[in-house]
Amino acid sequence: MRRILVTGGAGFIGSNFVRMILGEQPDCLVVNLDKLTYAGNLENLASFLEHPNHKFVKGDICDGPLVADLIKDEKIDAIVNFAAESHVDRSITEPKVFIETNVAGTLTLLEAAREHRLERFIQVSTDEVYGALGKEGLFIEDTPLSPNSPYSASKAAADHLIHAFAHTWGLRCNITRCSNNYGPYQFPEKLIPLMINNALNDKPLPVYGDGMQVRDWLYVYDHCTAIWTVLTQAEPGRTYNIGGCNEKTNIDVVRTILKHLHKPESLVRHVTDRPGHDRRYAIDASRIMRELGWKPSVTFEQGLARTIDWYLGARDWLDSIVSGDYRNYYESMYDNR
Ligand code: NAD
Ligand code: DAU
Repeated sequence: MRRILVTGGAGFIGSNFVRMILGEQPDCLVVNLDKLTYAGNLENLASFLEHPNHKFVKGDICDGPLVADLIKDEKIDAIVNFAAESHVDRSITEPKVFIETNVAGTLTLLEAAREHRLERFIQVSTDEVYGALGKEGLFIEDTPLSPNSPYSASKAAADHLIHAFAHTWGLRCNITRCSNNYGPYQFPEKLIPLMINNALNDKPLPVYGDGMQVRDWLYVYDHCTAIWTVLTQAEPGRTYNIGGCNEKTNIDVVRTILKHLHKPESLVRHVTDRPGHDRRYAIDASRIMRELGWKPSVTFEQGLARTIDWYLGARDWLDSIVSGDYRNYYESMYDNR
């Protein structure tokens, strides 16, 4: 049996990954370490909390003794590190915690992995470490790292640490760098769920600047299958971009959501732009497709339709989030834009 320590498994992508493994890989035990920050939610794991192959542990990846005990006691052979502060806007208002979790936390995990000679360490990174593109071109794995926000700088620092541990001590690592994800259980601070939630409530849809920034979208389940593929098939030391060739301007995404929900375009509000806003991301994922045979299972149109349907059926989940601290966050982030 594979025994994996998944960190951040109560967040958006981590919980989708845990549900995928428990549903599809009967020979895999998941120890799920999550601090349950504002972004972590046990309701994301609902019926899977009692699954015999799942053990949830509330804790911090910066807690070295806890991480070492889990690896020893649970006989862990691989770590998949999703745990992070993940929202760019928050990193602009409060960068420190991004360094603590994304950099120091990753270092803590790496030290434990080295000491216990783990079989594999997968660092779930992001295409944002490459910086921004102009009108042309794609990020490839050899594109130099040039992060622009405190969030992406912290993720790039973590990527450098992964490389250093592999190079210096031979730790068997892979880095995955995925483009923007969307799908079930995404916290409604991010573009797609925020716009769905606002549209459902007939609230204005805050589009930063001219809305012509480009993101490259991937359905979250497809990101999860890519990470599983890397974990189980990649040679150590290899880095993989992950993406589905779905470049869209933000305004197009917002208009598509409004159309699906039969809401008027008059809900769109152009608001003050994000400081230092990266103009365009686009990813070349041909290496993982060619070397490991991975490919996405849905188009953007299919994935977005599924996502909107999911949010329509998850009004209780959404309402429980937006009624709490989220309301204060939303007011402080958007009222002065
Ligand atoms: P998320 O914010 O939804 O979830 C992060 C999870 O990490 C939460 O459950 C939170 O409680 C947990 N966490 C935070 N700090 C922790 C700590 N110190 N110790 C333990 N747990 C902690 O994030 P997400 O969107 O699911 O992203 C997951 C990972 O994927 C991140 O590393 C992110 O950089 C990366 N990524 C995200 C995207 C995207 O579009 N969302 C794309 C590419 C890569
Ligand atoms: O590219 C991968 C990255 O994608 C991940 O590493 C990050 O964790 C994830 O948050 C995401 O970063 P972005 O900044 O691209 O995602 P976000 O959903 O915050 O914004 C997407 C685009 O939409 C971006 O150009 C900013 C814009 N936007 C966002 C919000 C929240 C708006 O116009 N209005 C909004 O209210």
